[in-house]
Amino acid sequence: MKKNYPSAPAIAMVIITCLLQVTSYAQTKKRVVQLNANNAKQVVAAMTLEEKAKLVVGMGFKMPGMPTPTPKQMKEGIDIGGFKLPPSDPDAYNIPEKVPGAAGRTHAIPRLGIPSITVADGPAGVRISPKRGGKDSLKTYYATAWPVATLLASSWDTALVRQVGVAFGNEVREYGVDVLLAPGLNIHRNPLGGRNFEYYSEDPLVSGRMTAAIVNGIQSNGVGTSIKHFVANNQETNRNSINTVVSERAMRELYLKGFEIGIKGAQPWTVMSSYNKLQGVYTSERRDLLTTILRGEWGFKGLVMTDWFGGKDAVAQMHAGNDLLMPGGPQQSDDIVAAVKSGKLPLADLNTNVEHMLNLIVKSQSFKKYNYSDAPDLAAHAAVARMAAAEGMILLKNTDKALPVSTNKSIAVFGNTSYDIIAGGSGSGDVNKAYTVSLVQGLTNAGYNVNENLKNSYTAYLTAAKAKQPKARNIFMLPPPIPEMDLNGMVEKQADDAAAAIITIGRNAGEGADRKIEGDFNLNNAEKAIIRVIADAFHAKGKKVIVVLNIGGVIETASWKDNVDAILLAWQPGLEAGNAIADIISGKVNPSGKLATTFPVDYNEIASSKNFPGLPADKPTEVTYEEGVYVGYRFFDTFDIKPSFEFGYGLSYTNFKFSNLKLSAPTFTGSMDINVTVTNTGSVAGKEVVQLYLGAPVKTMDKPQDELKGFVKTKLLAPGESQTVGFRIRATDLASFYTDKQAWMADAGTYTVKVGSSSRNTQSVTFNLATDIITEKVNKVLVPQVHINELKK
Ligand code: BGC
Repeated sequence: MKKNYPSAPAIAMVIITCLLQVTSYAQTKKRVVQLNANNAKQVVAAMTLEEKAKLVVGMGFKMPGMPTPTPKQMKEGIDIGGFKLPPSDPDAYNIPEKVPGAAGRTHAIPRLGIPSITVADGPAGVRISPKRGGKDSLKTYYATAWPVATLLASSWDTALVRQVGVAFGNEVREYGVDVLLAPGLNIHRNPLGGRNFEYYSEDPLVSGRMTAAIVNGIQSNGVGTSIKHFVANNQETNRNSINTVVSERAMRELYLKGFEIGIKGAQPWTVMSSYNKLQGVYTSERRDLLTTILRGEWGFKGLVMTDWFGGKDAVAQMHAGNDLLMPGGPQQSDDIVAAVKSGKLPLADLNTNVEHMLNLIVKSQSFKKYNYSDAPDLAAHAAVARMAAAEGMILLKNTDKALPVSTNKSIAVFGNTSYDIIAGGSGSGDVNKAYTVSLVQGLTNAGYNVNENLKNSYTAYLTAAKAKQPKARNIFMLPPPIPEMDLNGMVEKQADDAAAAIITIGRNAGEGADRKIEGDFNLNNAEKAIIRVIADAFHAKGKKVIVVLNIGGVIETASWKDNVDAILLAWQPGLEAGNAIADIISGKVNPSGKLATTFPVDYNEIASSKNFPGLPADKPTEVTYEEGVYVGYRFFDTFDIKPSFEFGYGLSYTNFKFSNLKLSAPTFTGSMDINVTVTNTGSVAGKEVVQLYLGAPVKTMDKPQDELKGFVKTKLLAPGESQTVGFRIRATDLASFYTDKQAWMADAGTYTVKVGSSSRNTQSVTFNLATDIITEKVNKVLVPQVHINELKK
């Protein structure tokens, strides 16, 4: 049989066709651009609309520890014990996580060389799952629980906070996370704010400078931060839709100011918009905030993401300048695609958002394929956490040198949280740490003799009480506090045996709820009773009583502080809590922290108490910041109300003298230098925080009596040693915001410079400004905004 061999020309044709196909395939391949550090615009041009809409919407939310929801649950939303999570993107469950327990991630687009990036909470440490299943089940992934932000701010030491950031950022990087969802810097408007522990201060200068310091430290590791929650997010009650009504002046002078300082001082990679509405519109949907102010006025170059499930309208958010919607759901991508197709959302807006995404991605360690270790040096970081914790603790009272107590003494240790100390608050600000050193353990480690019987009673009591507590069904559920143990005549014996008593008062709070006045801001009856009984018994024997405050937010102190000899405000000090407190109690570290938030005598004296958490009282939907700029010390000082402990206050085991307060000139011309000499006049080495407040002349507009304009922490000064501290004030420091002029303006007149160790312990000098100076003109913003849906009509 004759075989039909193809002819030579036919074979040649086949070969040529194949070659052509290979070449054209290669050319097509070559034409698909791959993301690199300099070609974001080209990549945007190569993306389909659907790819763009996918990139700007996160991969969905996976609740750590939750079993994979059914497709129905994914579509309808999942109940996570008390509240319902919105529908999720199935990708969150179907695509294996790079970092289990991280708060979110973005979609990869492999065709264009775009990897997924991972973001994780939070302000006090990297919040990821500490244990994983499968082949890694024997390994642990604990993270350092750093002291909470309020404690770090109380150090008033930006170099220290940067140092914490450097170690913190190393954990972010070594656990494979690209962006840390922190720091939080909302203003402590009211002491009941449930997340105040995650934030720094009632003052924007402290908040902004702390933000810049920690961001610079974290980002020095080549990982990003997300400063949050932008903006006017100062309460947890109805947090997802509360409407904040606030004057533009208060926004500019207080609520925006810290963000501006943080952004200009550190260029964080990202900003997180907040949940709340502002003058009727979700912040995440306000273009004036996210584009006009943030990018236009402040020069922010990074990316804006939403808070988790924040806002309602994906299209409005995109248009506003929210580049990334987190944690993301497919419906949002669909809405974006439809809006671009219908012309409602300009493609240029989406392209800008995509470009911001790509610019972030190329900086990420995921893009660089960093081979992370999953093994940061936790022991070294614990040492930093301990040191930082002690630096931010504040000695509020120390009559007759009750502290320090030498370590060969025996101490009677009272209060539940002495044995079960609170390292940090709950919710997304919590950290999965390997351990927390209790106070009693810290004291024992330091060499103190703590009474074993008392310890055993507390341990048994707490174990039994904890067994009865409801199991937390999600990270937001805080078990009710355990009532103080009945001391049942134990006190007398302790007063006989021990050299001094320590009583710890503890408080916890967190995301999703604000604190209460009774039993939280105010001490409960059992707490008041133990302080009274212990103080009576110990004082009767001539022994000292020391109260340690293990709290995340301000509490009432005026009614009981006279009963005790010393008060140490330890805040929530992170995983090395007990060791750090013992460092202060023993005098190994001389306390140098200062209050960055006022402790009032009575809750009702706070200006915002009349408008917190809003109206209607049973279920607030709107909160009016009627107090305007009079928040914290700005209120107490201006209206001459004496707080229990003022802003900037804190004692030391030594004393300092301020002298030679000098200005560079009697009249302001462009800038003013101020110098002061601080001398350690006591007998132990110590550090002082030198604070500079400025009082501006009042002409047509009322102003706070004083505003903090600078602070410096001295080095460790040996007894007798002096340090001269210098400040430079510029015209912008003199200015207030005039809404009618849409400008910051410094009024001509006499300015009072007050320099000292607290807001109420200062020396003053004055200078003159000859003529008014407009220091900055700004846009007309923050008025009720036209919604994107209205624009097209
Ligand atoms: C919080 C954010 C947090 C995010 C991700 C939200 O509920 O408000 O602060 O970063 O969850 O966990």
